[in-house]
Amino acid sequence: MTTEPLDLLVLGSGVAGLSAAVRAAEIHGMRVGVLTKGELHQATTRWAQGGVAAVLHDDPDSTDLHLADTLAAGAGLCDADAVRVLVDEGPGRVHELIALGAMFDRDEHGRLELAREGGHSLPRVVHAGGAATGAEIERALVDAVHRTAAVLHENTFALELLVDGGRCVGIEALGPDGGRYQVRASNVLLATGGAGQLFAVTTNPLEATGDGIAMALRAGVAVADIEFVQFHPTALHHPSMPRPLLSEALRGHGAVLRDANGERFVDELLPRDEVSRAETTRMLEQGVDHLWLDATGLEDFELRFPTIAADLRAAGLDPARDWLPIAPAAHYLCGGVVTDLDGASSLGGLWAAGEVACSGVHGANRLASNSLLEGMVFAFRVVEAIERGKLEAEATGAMRAVLDGDGAPGVIRGRPVDEPSVDAAGGDATELIEPAGVARLRDRLQRRMTELAGVIRTGSSLQAAMKEATAAAAAVPWPAGSPAAAELRNLARLAHAMSFAAMVREESRGAHTRQDFPDRDDQRFRSRLVLRPPVSQAGAA
Ligand code: FAD
Ligand code: SIN
Repeated sequence: MTTEPLDLLVLGSGVAGLSAAVRAAEIHGMRVGVLTKGELHQATTRWAQGGVAAVLHDDPDSTDLHLADTLAAGAGLCDADAVRVLVDEGPGRVHELIALGAMFDRDEHGRLELAREGGHSLPRVVHAGGAATGAEIERALVDAVHRTAAVLHENTFALELLVDGGRCVGIEALGPDGGRYQVRASNVLLATGGAGQLFAVTTNPLEATGDGIAMALRAGVAVADIEFVQFHPTALHHPSMPRPLLSEALRGHGAVLRDANGERFVDELLPRDEVSRAETTRMLEQGVDHLWLDATGLEDFELRFPTIAADLRAAGLDPARDWLPIAPAAHYLCGGVVTDLDGASSLGGLWAAGEVACSGVHGANRLASNSLLEGMVFAFRVVEAIERGKLEAEATGAMRAVLDGDGAPGVIRGRPVDEPSVDAAGGDATELIEPAGVARLRDRLQRRMTELAGVIRTGSSLQAAMKEATAAAAAVPWPAGSPAAAELRNLARLAHAMSFAAMVREESRGAHTRQDFPDRDDQRFRSRLVLRPPVSQAGAA
């Protein structure tokens, strides 16, 4: 089936996708379609806890301070212009979200309550329902998109970008009935989120499988910084997956970390890469698989964090009495599809915003609660740029690393990464790998990635991770016949590219730690690592 072309096709229904869809339809009257692989409300966004970092009260805070904290967390790799856009435009986007109906927590005078989180020099994080911020944002946006979008494709899986005459002209999708069809649009926004499901221990929901980045790689679109996977320091150590998160806001309120001997060992309010690394090092030294978050000193836990209190009750824990078992878990992908300051990718007609994108805002390590903000700010800019008639990316933000050429300061180009074993996979589009086989392979890939490409990596572990990814890809025929098989193939594609990038980056910086290169090496690596693979067959229209 081929539908009438849309002005804008949005892939994904998290904060980035829905913010763009609502603005494009409501303010500019564009014909917008939203296509998402689950129900509309299914997105990592709805799991977000701590809140949105934005300078809403000026004194003593300022956007300059927010900028400085973001740059410091990013370990030398943020694009300062992109961060400036984020901190300056963020407060306006938060106010628009409030106008749309999102209810944030307020004090008895009606002022927005502000929390502190790791890496922030002041409290500046607005939140909803204590630590249920994402659920409230998603609710408000889903309500709004139901009022405005022309077409909603739920339970529909975006498989491949359609490219014609050097521009993205739509996508090929797997519909709810299992049939393949095309959706054509003048502009396509990738807002497909992150890839925590690459790892066995993650806070991310099942849908976070990196599909957008894998699609972009197959179409030869530039991708960068994907070696920087942020591990959250305080996921509950518990068999359930995704791991329940114990928000950073708990540490902002005074909860402390303790090792196996009950000793404090790190400043709990450092940026999260530093806290997670300190935890992993301590766990290895003490031969344990978890540490402790001590929140027994917090007053009004139940009142301030009702949803976390409920998760803990369900796990049989009482935060007033028990130390809470925690360990780092894969949480956020700092890199992704390279964009300019308007969210334009290296392929005309293709835009990216939110966790799938590399706008340059996060560098080597994202500052807490900057992600929801990034989704809102850059989705808005994408829509405004389309409205202005922008056709191609410019050399701004992270895109400078692509367009300024090899001589540009701060650019490393990774050698091209091929699709792992496309030929070996062969296969026929209609051929189906049996579901139990897909689940088994996904589980194995996740466990091996945790082991080989997790918090601490080495050159040889990353070589082994690439081999593992190649084997997983070879087992899945392409184009895949089911969403589960397509997700596995995308995970394998991304696992391969991520391990490759992590191998090239022979240093430790931000969220990337190499045991064999323990120091930061500004001489060789204060640079964005751009991957530009050759277009694979599947990328053509
Ligand atoms: P998502 O919200 O992940 O949405 C992606 C969408 O794309 C989904 O609807 C998905 O179904 C769809 N999709 C994916 N692939 C396909 C495909 N092939 N075809 C069709 N549709 C597809 N950040 C903060 O700033 N503050 C916080 O407090 C915070 N807390 C967090 C707590 C947890 C537990 C987690 C996991 C993350 C948290 N984050 C937080 C990070 C933040 O939630 C995410 O980075 C952000 O929500 C990503 O938004 P997004 O719109 O880019 O993508
Ligand atoms: C948290 O609440 O700890 C998560 C915040 C984030 O990921 O930014």
